[in-house]
Amino acid sequence: MATKAIRAVGVDIGGTGIKGGLVDLESGTLISDRVKVATPAGAEPADVLAAVRVVLDTLGVADADVPLGVAFPAIVKHGRTLSAANVADTWIGFGAEKFFEDGLGRDIHFANDADVAGVAELRFGAARGVSGLTILTTLGTGIGSAMIHEGVLVPNSELGHLQRAGHDTDAEAYAAYSAMERERLDWQQWAERLQWYYSHVEFLFSPDLFIVGGGVSKHADQFLPLLDLKTPIVPAVHRNNAGIIGAAALALASDGTDAVAGAADTLVEATTA
Ligand code: BGC
Repeated sequence: MATKAIRAVGVDIGGTGIKGGLVDLESGTLISDRVKVATPAGAEPADVLAAVRVVLDTLGVADADVPLGVAFPAIVKHGRTLSAANVADTWIGFGAEKFFEDGLGRDIHFANDADVAGVAELRFGAARGVSGLTILTTLGTGIGSAMIHEGVLVPNSELGHLQRAGHDTDAEAYAAYSAMERERLDWQQWAERLQWYYSHVEFLFSPDLFIVGGGVSKHADQFLPLLDLKTPIVPAVHRNNAGIIGAAALALASDGTDAVAGAADTLVEATTA
């Protein structure tokens, strides 16, 4: 019998940091400190697992009585990671969900990081009640994307890897927040790259709303006003916590039972509350 719960733990594994928190899933808010450790150099599975353990221990939730969702920066299909843009190549074709479950000694729910941020904004933030197509992008080490149509997530969209015509590099190498830091761009210079990126995505998909997540979204007033788009573009309500909140939300099925114990095994099931 699945347990009733309104709290869950979310862990958001990124290319630079691993963040976690305990989340109240009625309000979609963090009810613990936000714990962050650096992503281990090379981001090999065993090292990432050890870092996730540190996050759970620090939060005091290492035992299995609170549902746990884990978000990861790669394509995630049936618990396997199928890509590795900012982590070790070992993750390509790797049974990541089972690896974390065995390593942590508990069930987890495992999904792409941008997709779970989309779920957080859908349930508790800027995408709530929006009709048509919402595209959330996270601007961080990479560019992640979540496509939500009429309240349903279409997982693994990977719009950060759109190719730039005539260039070897993809969109995220050119326009992620890490590109701004690496190349010491100012807001205006970075915004010119974002202008190319969002205009391109806008042309391809004609969305109704863009949401911008990732750590830099707390500085949205520095760069969003510089963009000229037909589509409204707003920061994620939950800023850089959207990944933690969304990961936690996916650990619970829509009826408040533990999604893992209740065998809700797909993002779409867990998303359409
Ligand atoms: C990965 C995505 C991920 C994004 C943000 C990209 O490099 O391919 O899966 O969502 O980075 O972390």
